[in-house]
Amino acid sequence: MLKIAQGAEAVLYKDHNDVIKERFSKKYRYPHLDESLRKFRTRREAKVLGRLAETNFPAPHLKNFSDERMSIVMDFIPGEKLKDVMDHTFSREIGLRVAELHTNGIIHGDLTTSNMIVHKENRALHFIDFGLSFFSEKTEDKAVDLFLLERTLESTHYELPGLFENVLQGYSENNPNGKEILDRLEEVRMRGRNKKK
Ligand SMILES: Nc1ncnc2c1ncn2[C@@H]1O[C@H](COP(=O)(O)OP(=O)(O)OP(=O)(O)O)[C@@H](O)[C@H]1O
Ligand SMILES: [Mg+2]
Repeated sequence: MLKIAQGAEAVLYKDHNDVIKERFSKKYRYPHLDESLRKFRTRREAKVLGRLAETNFPAPHLKNFSDERMSIVMDFIPGEKLKDVMDHTFSREIGLRVAELHTNGIIHGDLTTSNMIVHKENRALHFIDFGLSFFSEKTEDKAVDLFLLERTLESTHYELPGLFENVLQGYSENNPNGKEILDRLEEVRMRGRNKKK
């Protein structure tokens, strides 16, 4: 087993074509809270990956999970982190895929280019890291998901202006309620601005 990543909450190993993601305890949390949070996120990630497999969404297939060991086992997606190869050619596809998640009632909760992988073979974008995901049909939740994506594109990829406009283009093509969500996004942005003052 090869360790492939060490995040803030989890350690990831690769074993043949599997990835094992294990959520470790955070000593600074109250032990009970720590355990229930890790259980909750592990179950949630497993549940969302299971649901996505049913709809053929490009995400790792869930192979196993244990809320005792706080681990999930999923397919290894070979390729590059989008963050490392980002350019304008990917932005419409991001929008199309986020719209697909949202029309299936799934909010990702952590849409960053570190949580997307460009598949080595077909160059298709695959999404990972569903530990903060949840099920919702609310316009507000979808708008906030987009807003956080906009923020991360502006900060991580500030050298590539205009990415988010292309994301919204793809999003609108693939979400029949796009207009309502984009109007709400505008409200979320205004709130963000007022807060800064
Ligand atoms: N199924 C997978 N296939 C290939 N690489 C993966 C896979 N899952 C995760 N990785 C790699 O491991 C890294 C960390 O995984 P992930 O984003 O799920 O955890 P994290 O960011 O530490 O989690 P959290 O945000 O819950 O703390 C990813 O950025 C990616 O490089
Ligand atoms: Mg991540």
